[in-house]
Formats: sequence, structure tokens, C-alpha cells
Amino acid sequence: MSRKKVILAYSGGLDTSVAVKWINETYDMDVICYTCDLGQGQDIEAIRQKALRTGASDAVAEDLRALFTDYFCLPSLMAGALYEGKYPLATALGRPLIAQRMVLLAQEKGASAVAHGCTGKGNDQVRFDVTVQTLDPSLQIIAPVREWKWTRTQELEYALKHNIEVEATKKSIYSTDQNLWGRSIEAGILEDPWVEPPADAFQWTADPRTAPNEPEEVEIGFEKGRPISLNGVEKDPVAIIEELNQIAGRHGVGRIDHVENRLVGIKSREIYEAPAAIVLHEAHREIEFLTLSKDALRFRTYVSQAYSDMIYNGLWFSAFHQDLMAFVASNQRYVSGVARVKLFKGHCMITGRKSEHSLYRHELATYEEGDQYDSSAAQGFIKIHGLSQTTQAKHQMLKDMSSHRMELPSIIPPK
Ligand code: ARG
Repeated sequence: MSRKKVILAYSGGLDTSVAVKWINETYDMDVICYTCDLGQGQDIEAIRQKALRTGASDAVAEDLRALFTDYFCLPSLMAGALYEGKYPLATALGRPLIAQRMVLLAQEKGASAVAHGCTGKGNDQVRFDVTVQTLDPSLQIIAPVREWKWTRTQELEYALKHNIEVEATKKSIYSTDQNLWGRSIEAGILEDPWVEPPADAFQWTADPRTAPNEPEEVEIGFEKGRPISLNGVEKDPVAIIEELNQIAGRHGVGRIDHVENRLVGIKSREIYEAPAAIVLHEAHREIEFLTLSKDALRFRTYVSQAYSDMIYNGLWFSAFHQDLMAFVASNQRYVSGVARVKLFKGHCMITGRKSEHSLYRHELATYEEGDQYDSSAAQGFIKIHGLSQTTQAKHQMLKDMSSHRMELPSIIPPK
């Protein structure tokens, strides 16, 4: 009987390189390494070669930038998904796609397990495991780093003993993850939420102090909520995101400092760099302000929150997501137009927006000639609008001001 096979999510770093050998030994399985390009700016072919040198029986690398953009980044943009109002969810969006591709590869190669290098403390293990359990419950899940519980020194000893290439360059003091939609940085000195992130935490964004002294304007065109052009030129969304990461990053735009609530119960201080995502969210929201009705805008904030929690919590492949998407797609029907933003020393400011579906009507808003707004209707409207409050005041509050103050009832019963 041939040896069992496992698909390992392989980054080329120390953890997953050690994992190749460790799984070989501990589980007696052939390890097939899987690496993908989500726009993290690495040479995936070089990583694939390293996997083979490290002892993988086979190694697969593929470019997923278009799938990642079309099926993950853009829907999250359309939904206005910023976790806790801040984090554009780059890492969280990548996990379900990577896990799905690994499941497909396992089925193709006849593997009985998948493996990843997540620790037991973060959200990423949840996203991987839940996706795999959802898409193919027959697959075994192996998480070496969660299982071996080594210190860094023990891991290095193991690597040395097994002739595993350890990069000569000193390992980053931070734990990072990156793709097209952003870069996540955590650990090290960042664990103190009072400490300002040191300059070396950032790689994609300029320090605003050294950013250009002249602002730069960009125009982003949207159709039904999706970006379709940059500075008047129609472009593939992957190119738009990649270019915006460069342009906005140069101006120091896209730095985020967030003490976030992890799914596993702890608060964690995270730094993000997401130049393109921040600019796109800002621009997209402005087209929404112009084209969505007041009710649609308000309701959309609930949906944005539900959508971002769904992504963060690893529940991408759910019927609930499909339901939310139905709303988002419908709600984005008229979100087309162009937004102009100015990038300057860490700031991204909206300076203009236009849309053929604009609900901003000059003939209603103007104080100048051509006003079609019926001001005489305002008085009656105000009377009716305020009626319940003026009634309540007259019969309660104005009669007895003291009854308006109250003690807070305790929620804790006495002993
Ligand atoms: N806290 C973020 C999330 O859960 C980012 C995690 C990034 N991982 C890392 N190794 N830095 O989505």
C-alpha cells in the first residue's frame, strides 16, 4: 500500500519547512506542498523549488490573484467590510481561498489530509479548519505548530538536525502576513499597545514625514460597486489594486493601528498596511453617499458589520454569506460613478464625486436660482415630526422634571 498523502500550505518560511520533515516523521505521510500567489510579492516558483529541496514529494504553486480579487477582495469592498470599523481583512480574506484550493488539490491528488502552520492562538487556524471541515469533512487536519509546542530554539535545533535551510537573514521580529489587500504585522514590541509602532514595522507605506511634499490626486471609477478604472483608464481590478498600493503607499496612506477582538477570546494589537484597500473603501463609500438612499445607507451599516464578522470569523462558505451577498449585490446596483481622492502625508481625502445615478439633486439642494424645493411644506412637516416629543414633554417632562432622573437598577441579585 502506498504512503498516505497530505497537502501542506507552504510559505517557504521556517515553520512550514520544518513541518515538512516533522509530518514525514510523525505521521509517516508524503507531504505535497501548496503555495499560492495572492499578491504578496514573493516568487512562488522559488518557494516551490525550496519545498522540493526540503523533502516534499511534490509541490504545487499557482497564481490566485484574479480569483482572490474577484471573489474575495471586491465583494468585501462592496459590502464595506472593515472589521470593527478599521481592518480591511486582508489576511482573513485569504484563508478561505487557500483552504478551498487545498481541499481541491487533496481530492485531485488522493490525499487524506491537509496541514497548515497556524498556531493555536490565532484566528487563522479557525478559518482554515472550518473551511476544510465544511468543504470536505473526510479530510484529516494536521497543524504541526499547534501540535509540537516547541520554543523557537527547539525548532531551530530540529531544523539543524534535519538539514533544513534556515534563512541566513535574521528572522523578522514581527509575525507578518501579506497579500494584495494588505499586510498584517503583529508580535514583538507591538504587543505593548502604548508603544508607537517602530519604523521597521512598515514596508508598504512611507513615513508621512518623508512622503512627498506635494499631494497627488487619483480618480477611481466604479461600476455596481466594483472599481473599473484608475485616472480615467479602464483597468483590470488586480492592476488597480497593485497600482494603488504603490501610489498611496508612497504617500504614507493605509497605516492602521488596531487593538482587535480575536475570535478566540483575546484582544490583540495589530498593525496593518493597506494602502489600496483604504483608498478604495474611502472612494467607494463616497459613491454610496451619492447614490444610496438614506434608508439603504443606514441598513447597509448593519450588513457591513455582519459581513465583516462573517469574514473575520472564518464563515465564508456559509448560507448566511450567500444571503448577505444577495443584499449587497442588490444594494450596489446604482453604485457607479467616479470618486476623486487626494493623497497627502498619510491622509486620504475625498475631493469630489460624480455619478449618473446621483441622488444629490442640485435643483433640490441649491440656495440659488432654480430651487425646486417647497419650503412652505417645511412648517407642517416639523409640527408632525415633533408631535410625539412635544406631547410627551407637555404631559410628563415639563410637569415634573424630577421624575426624569432615576436610579440605575442593579442587575446583580442580593446574596
Ligand atoms: N489579526 C489578523 C487576522 O486575524 C491578522 C493575522 C495575521 N497573521 C499574522 N501572522 N500576522 O485576520
